Amino acid sequence: MSHNILITGGSGYLGGSLLAGWKEASLPAYNKLFALVRTPEQAEAVKQYGAEPLIFDAYNESEVWAAVVDNNISVVFHLIAPRPHVSQSYFLKAMAEVKKNTGRDVHFLHTTGAKIFSSHAGAPTDGPLLDSDPKLFEIQKAQKAPFAYMQQAVDANNFVIEESEKYGIRSYIFAPCIVYGEGEGFGNRISIQTVAVVRAADVMKRVYRVDTGRPTWPVCHIRDNTSLYIELMRKILSGENPGHGKKGYYLAASGSVAWDDLYAAMATALAKRGIINDETIVMANDENLEAMGKGLGCPAPFVEVMLGGYCTFTADHASKELGWKPLYTPEHILEYADAEVDFILRNKNW
Ligand SMILES: NC(=O)c1ccc[n+]([C@@H]2O[C@H](COP(=O)([O-])OP(=O)(O)OC[C@H]3O[C@@H](n4cnc5c(N)ncnc54)[C@H](OP(=O)(O)O)[C@@H]3O)[C@@H](O)[C@H]2O)c1
Repeated sequence: MSHNILITGGSGYLGGSLLAGWKEASLPAYNKLFALVRTPEQAEAVKQYGAEPLIFDAYNESEVWAAVVDNNISVVFHLIAPRPHVSQSYFLKAMAEVKKNTGRDVHFLHTTGAKIFSSHAGAPTDGPLLDSDPKLFEIQKAQKAPFAYMQQAVDANNFVIEESEKYGIRSYIFAPCIVYGEGEGFGNRISIQTVAVVRAADVMKRVYRVDTGRPTWPVCHIRDNTSLYIELMRKILSGENPGHGKKGYYLAASGSVAWDDLYAAMATALAKRGIINDETIVMANDENLEAMGKGLGCPAPFVEVMLGGYCTFTADHASKELGWKPLYTPEHILEYADAEVDFILRNKNW
């Protein structure tokens, strides 16, 4: 019996791009592709990708159970909300039932984020932190995040791994980073990451750095991010048993760039369009952080989480195990900054 697959978050930036790339990926045979949607319009939209829409509440245990068990769903790619782990826990319980009923292998992918492997979440940043590090689970277990919000996301990663092990489910912790480029889905086509830089600059009429030193952060073009989801799906469907559980971390990144370089490239694009007057980057003081927080809709101490930080998380696993090769270099985000800013401003909805 071949797999029934469910994708959640199909109307989002990452999930929509994944659905859009599905057909041309020529994946190995599976039985059915389902997409979780929340409106009749979304239900109609996902059909163009060959997906059967399912409307249910991902935060209601009995609804998740019915959707997963009644449809014998054995592969879930979860692309909504990296924290807390409420929805994930319902999916895992239901998938354990599918495993029991069918005796087949079942797979759950949890989409987290590079932030959960950064200074914001208490991860080590004194050297490269490889996604293939055999001690990564222990590292994550030991992390003490400076923000409760971030600790919930760390705990969600650990929960998914431990709970999956308990049920014999193969779990994957998929970490997108600063994803950029125009989304290809039917819903949201803008990344939540680069938009924060533009939004803060729009409020402040200037781009501010929020860190001392010259921290870097991993980056990835949306097409490369999509291709990693696809390559992982390919291995699962072909029964090749890709690394999972405590060895199932996958960072989708082509490399890293310095925040300062990203700010500078985006500031040039913002100045060109009259959003800011001075493209020089300056360090934010407490007053600036307060104002930026208001503009971003978050408390001042959280601004640095939205706009900066130290992350040495390094992609190694997918290239070695899945043969994943990003098409774009990390520096491409700097060359593309003008187009990214232009697209964000044309579609801004804050
Ligand atoms: N974009 C990035 O650069 C990036 C980087 C790191 C991590 N991530 C993480 O990756 C995940 C997807 O990101 P994204 O950029 O695709 O976000 P997005 O564009 O905001 O999409 C979010 C998706 O989740 C769905 N959703 C939200 N709440 C839901 C609920 N209660 N029940 C069912 N569906 C719900 C949304 O559906 P509706 O359209 O119906 O609201 C939408 O499909 C997020 O968890 C995000 O934190 C993203």
